[in-house]
Amino acid sequence: KSRKPLVAGNWKMNGDIVTNEHLFTALRSALERASISQVEVVICPPFPYLGQAGAWLGDTGIAWGAQNVAAAPNGALTGEVSVSMLLDLGCKWAIVGHSERRTLLGESSELIGRKAELCAAAGLGVIACVGETLAEREASHTDAVLARQVDALVPALRAADPARAVVAYEPVWAIGTGRTASPEMAQEAHAFIRARMADGGVAGADAIRIVYGGSVKPANAVTLFSMPDVDGGLIGGASLVADEFLNICRAAA
Ligand code: G3H
Repeated sequence: KSRKPLVAGNWKMNGDIVTNEHLFTALRSALERASISQVEVVICPPFPYLGQAGAWLGDTGIAWGAQNVAAAPNGALTGEVSVSMLLDLGCKWAIVGHSERRTLLGESSELIGRKAELCAAAGLGVIACVGETLAEREASHTDAVLARQVDALVPALRAADPARAVVAYEPVWAIGTGRTASPEMAQEAHAFIRARMADGGVAGADAIRIVYGGSVKPANAVTLFSMPDVDGGLIGGASLVADEFLNICRAAA
């Protein structure tokens, strides 16, 4: 594949200073042992631990990023965290539009598109998540849902450096459920997303990485990542176990 694979660990709302320290230590030594420089590796801890991530990962090739970002540059937005603050903390990436935020916190595709645009304008890498629910898949609405979600990202994807823009396809029914999309299902969705970006006028559509998320484990990572349009993964549960995460990174190499 011409695209450099990317594997991102989304720790979600897990961890504390002490357990993070163990995980960072294990990740450092594991990833050094593996020498997988051909894979871009990103760790996304909760906001309060981004400084800790910088302290532990700053001298490694592993990047760190946030799980969310504000939809405005600054101002009276209590509790929000801006793109410039993330850059200040050395973040290279921010996840936007995770399904947990779409569903549980009511984030719309338009809001997520604005967040992605702010990232693109400031040179912060963006990992934008899309994906259908089980009900949507069963009603054969997968393509329509993905089209809507991708279209809202198009202005940001057109503005972004393709090396700093990633779309994560995460079928909602596969997240944290142990149920994974088959490699063929993932490929079909990824190819659809890439074509939709190109149709929307995203010149870098072929260079933008599309990663898969949803119950990725070492045992299923190799076949998923071998599909032509699957350029790595967004890893939840397995990113909290150093050896599992390492083996998933290896599978992407
Ligand atoms: O962001 C990560 C995804 O939501 C996947 O989570 O690997 O625990 O299924 P999971």
